[in-house]
Amino acid sequence: MPDVTTNSAAETEDLGRSWGERLRTGDVVLLQGELGAGKTTFVRGAAQGAGSTAPVASPTFQLVRVYPGRVQLAHVDLYRVENSSELADIGLEDLATRGAVVVEWGERLDVDDAALIEFEHLGGDRRRIRTIRDLSH
Ligand SMILES: Nc1ncnc2c1ncn2[C@@H]1O[C@H](COP(=O)(O)OP(=O)(O)OP(=O)(O)O)[C@@H](O)[C@H]1O
Ligand SMILES: [Mg+2]
Repeated sequence: MPDVTTNSAAETEDLGRSWGERLRTGDVVLLQGELGAGKTTFVRGAAQGAGSTAPVASPTFQLVRVYPGRVQLAHVDLYRVENSSELADIGLEDLATRGAVVVEWGERLDVDDAALIEFEHLGGDRRRIRTIRDLSH
């Protein structure tokens, strides 16, 4: 996907939706970028694109939320993960056998073949969203 600058949360959600439409079981998408950069907003669109009608919120107290759809989407947020045993508890590999996985603060993981998207806050409502590594299909 090309690098884009979005000018509203709705535009970032639209971009997430087009990623979600492409997702397949086994895909892992890592999202990196500072607080408020738009990662959760993107996941909201991605879940819709994957066929979910459930509302997406920040998984503040849960590390993982699962949205059933055309493809199941697991939404992981590593912001509060402090150690490798917590990471192991998430069961990322298992989630990836059941559907696609999108990970906020994904730079904390080292996953072979994962897609990688970087979000940059440009001030106001502008965000630069760069595809560092696209899906492999
Ligand atoms: N172009 C834009 N793209 C995405 N969000 C935007 C944009 N412009 C404004 N916003 C607002 O910025 C905020 C982005 O919050 P969001 O929760 O998506 O960020 P986040 O990267 O998930 O942050 P955190 O690291 O805290 O999880 C929302 O309040 C959203 O409405
Ligand atoms: Mg978030």
